[in-house]
Amino acid sequence: MDHFLYRNGSLHAEDVPVSEIAAAVGTPFYCYSSATLERHFRLFQEALAPLPNLVCFAVKSNSNQAVLRLLGSLGAGMDVVSGGEYLRAKAAGVPGDRIVFSGVGKTRAEMRQALAGGVRQFNVESEPELVALSEVAAGMGLVAPIAVRVNPDVDARTHEKIATGKSENKFGIPIARARQVYAQAAGLPGIEVVGIDVHIGSQLTELDPFRQAFAKVEELTRALRQDGHDIRRLDLGGGLGIPYERSNSAPPLPIEYGRMIQETLGHLDCEIEIEPGRLISGNAGILVSEVIYVKDGEGRDFLIIDAAMNDLMRPSLYGAHHDIIPVLEAAPGTARRPLDVVGPVCETGDTFARQRDLPEGLSPGDLVAFRSAGAYGAVMASEYNTRPLVPEVLVSGDQFAVIRPRPTFDEIINRDTIPPWL
Ligand code: LLP
Repeated sequence: MDHFLYRNGSLHAEDVPVSEIAAAVGTPFYCYSSATLERHFRLFQEALAPLPNLVCFAVKSNSNQAVLRLLGSLGAGMDVVSGGEYLRAKAAGVPGDRIVFSGVGKTRAEMRQALAGGVRQFNVESEPELVALSEVAAGMGLVAPIAVRVNPDVDARTHEKIATGKSENKFGIPIARARQVYAQAAGLPGIEVVGIDVHIGSQLTELDPFRQAFAKVEELTRALRQDGHDIRRLDLGGGLGIPYERSNSAPPLPIEYGRMIQETLGHLDCEIEIEPGRLISGNAGILVSEVIYVKDGEGRDFLIIDAAMNDLMRPSLYGAHHDIIPVLEAAPGTARRPLDVVGPVCETGDTFARQRDLPEGLSPGDLVAFRSAGAYGAVMASEYNTRPLVPEVLVSGDQFAVIRPRPTFDEIINRDTIPPWL
């Protein structure tokens, strides 16, 4: 459920008409709903309530300061994957002991920064990273808390570009080698083992791959404890999918996911960490765009809008589906018409949808909204074709605020510098 609903035929973000925001901010823009962000975060908290837990929001899915501030104020931890994301979490007021640092390529500088600022744990993905982290921490007179990310070799049955838990993926340490790596970790002066980490992929639409991975983590927890390690935290990653197509069957609910976690791991007396991104921010955001032209083509017609692949990359990158709806609801009984929805960028890949069934009568100046655009939307945008990064707006009840303004062309152009010989 989200808070983008039609009222009197006009799409609202909570209590604010989307057309009112468009008039104030211009298009295209991302619009997030505070109530939806909060609701989805709380669903995870409730799902894990029977166990000690920390829900760490995956900052990569939406890293706007206002979004992080909102979730942080509700008690969320943060899962970060770069020094930049670490600084964003800190700047939003999240304390270091609620920040988990993931990622396959942490640099020594990033390790130093997180150790100095405080960090809950590093999720270590390779032996060389483990050695580097120990050296950095010991050099600072500190000990780094770690979980080793294990790769359970489970098929997440999701898009190949976002599956991470198969042995051929670059992520984690093969679970078969885990005991060896934990033994190595225990012998390093700058390392303290606190737990195990696993993340098998994103946009998972069934529980079974999670269950298989967690069963392997359960087995490994017992083995590592036998080896003398103090495994007290299990970080289960993110990955629970959302219904992008409202017509399709819905993925499992957080409460079902939570129940499965209790069944598979609840008896181990561990603190459970999870790192959901998409399920918290995805359906909490829409991308609003204006129709520029309706063009009759040969065999197919095009809806040319002012958002493009650089603003929302998911369709061109993954062939992802986003529901597209008119901001002014079509009257009941309005005929429908298949259209290719495209942006102004000079690439055929700049196509959001092919032959999408849309209400007849959309015309220049009309607004459309892409649903489920709050995760991996604004964060993946670029300025390709010198199109300014799309502004972001946050709604709360009947108020809205611009939480990242659209840059001016001067700002964009003046970021470049001319070398002295030109
Ligand atoms: N934890 C780790 C270690 C991750 O790598 C990810 C996502 C998450 C948590 C959060 O996963 P989520 O709950 O959001 O599924 N750009 C792609 C998604 C990439 C996901 C990468 N890792 C997309 O637009 O679908």
